Amino acid sequence: MSEDMVRAAGEGSSDRLDGRVVVVTGAGSGIGRAASLLAAHRGARVAALDIDAAMLDETVKLGSGKSLAISSRITDVTDPGAVRNTAAWVRDTLGPAQGLVCSAGVSIERPFLEMPLELWSKIITLNLTGTFLCAQEFARQMVASGLGGSVVTVSSAHGFSGRVSGSHYAASKAGVLALTKSMALELAKHQIRVNSVAPGAVETPLMKRVVANAVGGRERSLGRIPLGRFGQPDDLADPICFLLSDRAGWITGQTMHINGGSLLV
Ligand SMILES: NC(=O)c1ccc[n+]([C@@H]2O[C@H](COP(=O)([O-])OP(=O)(O)OC[C@H]3O[C@@H](n4cnc5c(N)ncnc54)[C@H](O)[C@@H]3O)[C@@H](O)[C@H]2O)c1
Repeated sequence: MSEDMVRAAGEGSSDRLDGRVVVVTGAGSGIGRAASLLAAHRGARVAALDIDAAMLDETVKLGSGKSLAISSRITDVTDPGAVRNTAAWVRDTLGPAQGLVCSAGVSIERPFLEMPLELWSKIITLNLTGTFLCAQEFARQMVASGLGGSVVTVSSAHGFSGRVSGSHYAASKAGVLALTKSMALELAKHQIRVNSVAPGAVETPLMKRVVANAVGGRERSLGRIPLGRFGQPDDLADPICFLLSDRAGWITGQTMHINGGSLLV
């Protein structure tokens, strides 16, 4: 078998992230925390960002218990100045970012007819504009370093299906998907890949709040998942780290649906 064929069979690429600087937003909880821990476990030097200092400390503590290289910095992803300062801090303390995971996000339910503009704007600003600000700042860093990179956005199954009492949330996530594809097109020439993971219901603080308020509650939500269980943050961390790695070296502009089959029913 030629060397090329061996590479095509996957033996030439690795899911290791050794020495790479990977930035994770929303790293204090749920999917962002799990992605931070797994990326560090696979050899990355992780910059964990969150607005919540106590949650962020807990992520660092979980990492240091396993001798993982996780540095943290409080950063509000909706604040352009804070994102810019954090990007400079990452470059100066860890080196230029080669990976970015945009997991910071929030959901606050409200029926469409009662949606105040303030709540609409809050969700769009955090989920969509926050992703834009971080992706733009760190993509600029990747271009400047000439090292290329991989950006993984976190969208949602609701960006495809829409959501009752979540028109703002679904719109923000559909926006993240369009942003992801547009960035993939523009950044490919810099060897920067941009992909999205679209989770279904994953058991995190965010999801528990949503399910508790949903009509029919937990049992009804569970009944809509063919694989018969809610996702766990680790179900997302592995695909995210795959997309960060060289194993995904020819994948860009794609969305990986991770939902136990819920979009099928
Ligand atoms: N859990 C699910 O079922 C589910 C489903 C689909 C999509 N998602 C998406 O996955 C992502 C992660 O969600 P999760 O379930 O892990 O939620 P989570 O609530 O467990 O974690 C979200 C983190 O984002 C942080 N955050 C909030 N505002 C911030 C800001 N302005 N700047 C920086 N950090 C901020 C929070 O402090 C928190 O640590 C979100 O974008 C969410 O929309 C989650």
